[in-house]
Amino acid sequence: MRTQVVIIGAGPAGLALGRLLEQAGVDAMILERKSAQYVLGRIRAGVLEWGSVELLDRAGAGARMHAEGLVHHGTALSFDGDRMHIDFTDLVGKQVMVYGQTEVTRDLMDIRQGTTIYEAEDVQLHDFDGQPWVSYTKDGTTHRIDCDFIAGCDGYHGVSRASLPASAVSTFERVYPFGWLGVLVDKPPVDPELIYAHHARGFALCSQRSPTRSRYYVQVAADEKVEAWSDTRFWDELRRRLDPQTAERIETGPSIEKSIAPLRSFVAEPLRFGRLFLAGDAAHIVPPTGAKGLNLALGDVALLGDALMEALQEGSDAGIDSYSVRALQRIWKAERFSWWMTSLLHVFPETGDFGRRIQRAEFDYLMGSRAARQSLAENYVGLP
Ligand code: APR
Ligand code: PHB
Repeated sequence: MRTQVVIIGAGPAGLALGRLLEQAGVDAMILERKSAQYVLGRIRAGVLEWGSVELLDRAGAGARMHAEGLVHHGTALSFDGDRMHIDFTDLVGKQVMVYGQTEVTRDLMDIRQGTTIYEAEDVQLHDFDGQPWVSYTKDGTTHRIDCDFIAGCDGYHGVSRASLPASAVSTFERVYPFGWLGVLVDKPPVDPELIYAHHARGFALCSQRSPTRSRYYVQVAADEKVEAWSDTRFWDELRRRLDPQTAERIETGPSIEKSIAPLRSFVAEPLRFGRLFLAGDAAHIVPPTGAKGLNLALGDVALLGDALMEALQEGSDAGIDSYSVRALQRIWKAERFSWWMTSLLHVFPETGDFGRRIQRAEFDYLMGSRAARQSLAENYVGLP
């Protein structure tokens, strides 16, 4: 079998890249280890920068997002119960769209016309320095696909980055000593906007998926077990970390999903190895505090899609030659912002009272300075 681009992974990065390429008439196949149903069962973040909204529109995958997504003009931050509003529209003239990653993935899956092989086992990458090909096993039979390029969109635990010799790639990592315990519930959100809360007991986030579905998180120790958290314990802990008015208004109910995600910052460099490119979580991880994971992945594939089209259709290598440098510039800015939001809002066991005073000073600075709020807003809605 032969195709122009083999994409490994059918998460949002792989599906969006596949769509951009098929719109341009480039032949691409996607290989995904899991079933479509499994991919759609993963609950991930839900805030789209406007650049991501525009990319999904360009991909022809924006109709349901515009019908069902919620445009947010700002967000709230609270510190020990003191609340501050960050007004994106006033500060930077932009907005974000609250629309779950699961829905983005479903829309991209629905619109795809090219081939996606789900439950492709034992995917292996070969000769990406020369004439690349990919092998995989499906229903007991091993297949070979020859191609011009391979796009590694297979997430943090994928095979693409793992196929590289250790000497070819540098990695930069920070693992935080805590995770987020998240609960999904079929109750209306407590507030029209998201609330990011710092409290002495730890961070909390009030988010949402729709006017009738909410997503809440609390910071927990890295080794915490989800089984130790009954719904009642979760709601009690969440309320303790919010200002009293918000705590009182929360509508609780039985959780329809509950899970713990570790927090990590990670970047691999470079993103190109001959004819293999990394994009999305395969290349970088951000802690979820700035809601950048999905947006970064879409930003990568917008660049990579154009670069591959130029190479395959115009015979120009300029785009693929500069992909890594251009993508990494954006990635590191989002890494910085996500790290900063995480540092401001979480309780770090090792920094003690000094650390909390510094965090409070940072919060007070934001409250008193339009310039500081503008910087937060500019990063949150997405840098150009
Ligand atoms: N072979 C084939 N597919 C694989 C393999 C493999 N060896 N390993 C992983 N995959 C698949 C995973 O099953 C998954 O469906 O690659 C896909 C990667 O998807 P994501 O993890 O969703 O990563 P990405 O598409 O880069 O999306 C970026 O945004 O909100 C953030 O971290 C969040 O998933 C999110 C991300
Ligand atoms: C979510 O709704 O899951 C969510 C929202 C904002 C974040 C992280 C997660 O910063």
